[in-house]
Amino acid sequence: MCGIIAMVGHQPTSKVLVEGLKRLEYRGYDSAGVAVINENGIEVRKCAGKIAELAALMERDPVDGHTGIAHTRWATHGAPNTNNAHPHVSHSGSVALVHNGIIENYQVIKSLLEGEGYKFSTDTDSEVLAGLIQYHYSGNLEAAVQEALKRVEGTYGIAVIHEKEPHKIVGARNGSPLVLGLGDHEFFLASDVAAMVARTRQVIYLDDGEMAVITPDGYHTCNVQNESVAKLVHEVTWDLGQIEKGGYPHFMLKEIHEQPETIRNTFRGRVVYEEGDAHLGGLNMTDDELRAVKRVVFLACGTSWHAGLVGEYMIEDYARIPVEVEYASEFRYRRPVIDPDTLVIAISQSGETVDTLSAMREARKQGARVLGITNVVGSTIARESQGGVYIHAGPEIGVASTKAFSCQVTALTILTLLLARTRHMSIEEGQRVIKALQEAPQLIQQVLDQEDRIRKVAEEYAGHSNFLYLGRGYNFPIALEGALKLKEISYVHAEGYPAAEMKHGPIALIDRDMPVVVVCTQDSTYEKIKGNVQEVKARSGRVLAIVTDGDKEIADMADHVITVPPTLDLVSPLLNVVPLQLLAYHIAVLRGCNVDQPRNLAKSVTVE
Ligand code: G6P
Repeated sequence: MCGIIAMVGHQPTSKVLVEGLKRLEYRGYDSAGVAVINENGIEVRKCAGKIAELAALMERDPVDGHTGIAHTRWATHGAPNTNNAHPHVSHSGSVALVHNGIIENYQVIKSLLEGEGYKFSTDTDSEVLAGLIQYHYSGNLEAAVQEALKRVEGTYGIAVIHEKEPHKIVGARNGSPLVLGLGDHEFFLASDVAAMVARTRQVIYLDDGEMAVITPDGYHTCNVQNESVAKLVHEVTWDLGQIEKGGYPHFMLKEIHEQPETIRNTFRGRVVYEEGDAHLGGLNMTDDELRAVKRVVFLACGTSWHAGLVGEYMIEDYARIPVEVEYASEFRYRRPVIDPDTLVIAISQSGETVDTLSAMREARKQGARVLGITNVVGSTIARESQGGVYIHAGPEIGVASTKAFSCQVTALTILTLLLARTRHMSIEEGQRVIKALQEAPQLIQQVLDQEDRIRKVAEEYAGHSNFLYLGRGYNFPIALEGALKLKEISYVHAEGYPAAEMKHGPIALIDRDMPVVVVCTQDSTYEKIKGNVQEVKARSGRVLAIVTDGDKEIADMADHVITVPPTLDLVSPLLNVVPLQLLAYHIAVLRGCNVDQPRNLAKSVTVE
């Protein structure tokens, strides 16, 4: 949510900053801007709209310098217009700042500064912080930032420059990610490695309360109390190609097609067929500790929450441990009951979602063991959990999550296997699960190969304004996820429901203008869901059914079908979600929507 990139070195920075912003655009895209220091002092270019508009503005009205900060915004305080876009400059023009997060006590600080004669020209909380840094400045920028931050309540990832120290950038973080990049006589600060991976792969992940000072000659890390902090340098293992579209028209489509490979990456080296067992060394738990778990609580938001729901069905089914799946945002505000036998698992693609992070901190405070299932190596959730599983999906850029979801479900399948095998599951049953999981990528490829047909089906449905998605058992979460995908990227209203629950309300909506997408592959709920399809047809509803290859009964009732190969119930969500991702994608494209950057959304939500 909001993206920051800052660079200091001996080269002009403008181009690098705009390129970096393009890589961060998934974090927010309602306005953007750049500030550099040159012989004229601090110069700013900013505008409402996407990075392409900023790039065009900088073509028309170029500006450059060897020290620069830049930002792409997802508005919280103040409308997404040019005036409220970052960077924000203090009223004397001496300090410029980019900020990600929310300054909760900005009104108090603003009144104080107004009392001192400061003027503010935007509606943002961030401009107030620029003013506060100017207020504390007496010749040393890091000292001014430290003094200012001592008075601030809220969250921030910031990069700050001062006209009197033209070769220095100061960064700080509290609750919003900030990564330091180490190049060859050039140094970077960014909210995500993606922004700087074209220039360096050596990075340092700052923790809350920490700061970094960068100049062309080096860097220094300390905390807000001005104590030096020694940090480890990490090497980024993925490359630029992984964050480019590779010939696909959209990142989302590329990421949908990557799933056979990314799922393999999730289970590679973690399941052993001969033993019918799994190994997840990153959990940092012994078999005895795994056996002692009496309850599992998943904390997540959005698509990751749907993955947690699939995990609930799996773990209860195979490991017989009670599971609860919590909306992270609700968990922390309702006095949850946690005991030492509860294993809490935060699920988050980005590893930065603030609701999930805060819920996880709350659980730790209450004494729970907390694990993380994340995609982004070095993310805050990964670092603050006591162990966990990286899903190895590679960078996910499309705002609507696809491959991260299927990799999260894969990681949860492996976890289920592990928990079940430390209890009563036999080697043979473990082998059955492993075999089905290992076959999944190739079966998903068969679904992907039907894309042309799915696009034709999408043409039939693209004109509708309301959809109902139904599923039962393992595929109830898939109905929710299918509906969420459509809603996110095509702005069509879609609701997911447990199929049997339909008759307690949504059935009243059914007529020929309300398509019903039913996930009804041949699993243990098949006989029951057939009845639900009949109930829709009896009310003239239009049914699009996801069925198992060779299915006749539902195929005869439905208006359209998309087929998927047979598999174990437990693995069926991995296959069944794919046609729903493609359906949502093609409906959105047909409706002319911006698939990768849907309106109002952001990929990494770092505000509560
Ligand atoms: C945002 C994204 C969703 C994502 C959710 C949770 O709302 O738009 O796609 O599922 O955040 O994100 P996380 O990174 O924690 O999985």
